Amino acid sequence: MAEEKYDFGMIGLGTMGRNLVFNMADHGFSVSGFDQDGKQVDFLEKERGERKVLGTRSPKEFVESLKQPRVIMLLVPAGKIVDAVIDELKPLLTDEDLIMDCGNSHYTDTDARTLALAKHNMHFMGVGISGGEQGARFGPSIMPGGNKSAYDRIAPMLQAVSAKVGNEPCVTYLGTGSSGHYVKMVHNGIEYGLMQLISETYQLLKELGGLTNDELQQVYTNWNNGRLQSFLISITADVFKQQDDLTNNRLIDMILDSAGQKGTGAWTSEDAMALQVPIPVIDAAVTARNLSGLKDVRVAAQQKLKGPANAVKVEKQELINLLEQALYFATITTYAQGMALLQRASKEYNYGLNLADIAKIWRGGCIIRASLLEQISAAYSQQPDIANLMLSEGIAAELAGSQAGIRELIGIAAEGGIPVPGIMASLAYYDTYRHAWLPANLLQAQRDYFGAHTYKRNDREGVFHSHWNQKEG
Ligand code: 6PG
Repeated sequence: MAEEKYDFGMIGLGTMGRNLVFNMADHGFSVSGFDQDGKQVDFLEKERGERKVLGTRSPKEFVESLKQPRVIMLLVPAGKIVDAVIDELKPLLTDEDLIMDCGNSHYTDTDARTLALAKHNMHFMGVGISGGEQGARFGPSIMPGGNKSAYDRIAPMLQAVSAKVGNEPCVTYLGTGSSGHYVKMVHNGIEYGLMQLISETYQLLKELGGLTNDELQQVYTNWNNGRLQSFLISITADVFKQQDDLTNNRLIDMILDSAGQKGTGAWTSEDAMALQVPIPVIDAAVTARNLSGLKDVRVAAQQKLKGPANAVKVEKQELINLLEQALYFATITTYAQGMALLQRASKEYNYGLNLADIAKIWRGGCIIRASLLEQISAAYSQQPDIANLMLSEGIAAELAGSQAGIRELIGIAAEGGIPVPGIMASLAYYDTYRHAWLPANLLQAQRDYFGAHTYKRNDREGVFHSHWNQKEG
């Protein structure tokens, strides 16, 4: 009897890869796994129980264990390792085999790899997967892009393993080329923005409101029961009750205030700058992480740089109410910025993205899942080409309803000398966006003055240059 062949292959059997293998197997698919690190293969075999899961110990054994045309998923760190794995696999693969890169690869790498493999009649897809270890095991949000017929081959499996909202799977075909990884990158940019905004509310509640960790847990729990309901708010509430194993303190108070990053937030900002799409909350979040990294410098600066002389006074409940409004307002603008970037990128890179579908598959499984996404998806289904989410009637009304709160809150934060860069960037974005007139006429004049860059007029077509009243010398 011929040796049994497996439906799917997984390379990279760390926690994410292994969890996804077990998720697939629990949905009736047989999966073969390989990892350079033999211990991970041993662990897969130890944990697989009765599932149809095979551990393999060489790329050759791995490739030969798969049904043809093969479908191979990679869950390895982004960067050179992905290329190394592809190089190792390529001579062993045949026409129509499909490699899916499920890590956080840069979208330009995905485009290059897709082209390179297409020359050998093989398919390559960039597939964003969000939801961390739990998501991989019990249902992530999945963002696949690339060749549509290749997607159709794997759609039943992706639908089975993905998170569900009601009966709807949190996966859909997103578009051509590197669109899957692009959408995942922007997902992460939004993730950075939202995490920063929540952290700013924590700083104000702690420093200004003097809330204890129990009180903080209660505030975020209450928020999570309202319009701010989201995965990130819910885990924030949990964080404040976690006890430290090593001391008698809460764990949060023992964690260094300096956050790392793998780079997807910065990539989002970089690409938005290149496409000239403003995403200031996400930019502020990336900058804030960089500033958090300057711990030693900040410790020294606290002794040197003066803040306001007097402490600002605000009643605790009032502060909580204002922060809820500010966070809601800023959260909306963060999604709006991410969506605006996707809209522009879709045109620039010919992805053919459907923003309503993207908001839909983000409703479950992923890190930025939130009840607000229901409304966002509805807004884009009604007006797919709307220039900005903030212009959708329902969303505009939500912003109008909470703008008084964010304005007052920013005043309090500024008066108290407490940094809220994300929240400030959010309001500045909104106020700039809703201004028919901006002082860019002066920018044009300055450019023409010092560099003869020319300017456009508001009363007639054409390009103009003036001989300005130049300063002597
Ligand atoms: C997800 C996350 C994940 C990401 C981490 C860490 O959707 O599951 O976005 O893919 O790698 O959040 O990102 P940073 O190290 O950049 O914070």
